[in-house]
Amino acid sequence: MNLRFYFRRLHVKIKHKPTVLVMRPEGVAMIRVQYDIPYFSIYVNKPYRGQGYSIKLLEELFEKCRGKYDAIFGTICIDNNQMRYICRKLGFKKVGEFNNRYLMMKKLS
Ligand SMILES: CC(C)(COP(=O)(O)OP(=O)(O)OC[C@H]1O[C@@H](n2cnc3c(N)ncnc32)[C@H](O)[C@@H]1OP(=O)(O)O)[C@@H](O)C(=O)NCCC(=O)NCCS
Repeated sequence: MNLRFYFRRLHVKIKHKPTVLVMRPEGVAMIRVQYDIPYFSIYVNKPYRGQGYSIKLLEELFEKCRGKYDAIFGTICIDNNQMRYICRKLGFKKVGEFNNRYLMMKKLS
């Protein structure tokens, strides 16, 4: 399925074209590069939530990123305990803090 159509259906706007993408019926994980920095994002479709798909999709995404990026970044809300847990489990470290958000980094090399 076309990505733009997929997101329109979910009422999610994509502002930057993904450079690395994992798209499954369960959800989407992607890397978007802004100012040369690769950021991940994750969306699990509602019927599939609570079954560990976020971690599976992200692991697959990071595998695809090996050799392409030295590190992956993400920004998460400080009060989002679930994303904090997911990032920690996937090996992210907190490298900054701004506007009630943590900047997280995972080294790939
Ligand atoms: C956030 C989101 C990606 C989670 O996806 P998911 O596949 O449903 O995640 P799961 O429910 O399987 O949980 C993943 C892990 O978080 C843990 N977890 C769940 N709720 C938690 C909480 N409140 N605090 C800490 N950990 C929590 C689970 O136990 C699980 O850990 P485990 O694999 O070690 O058992 C999904 O809800 C989503 O797409 N939300 C909308 C988009 C979004 O918010 N994206 C993130 C933007 S930063």
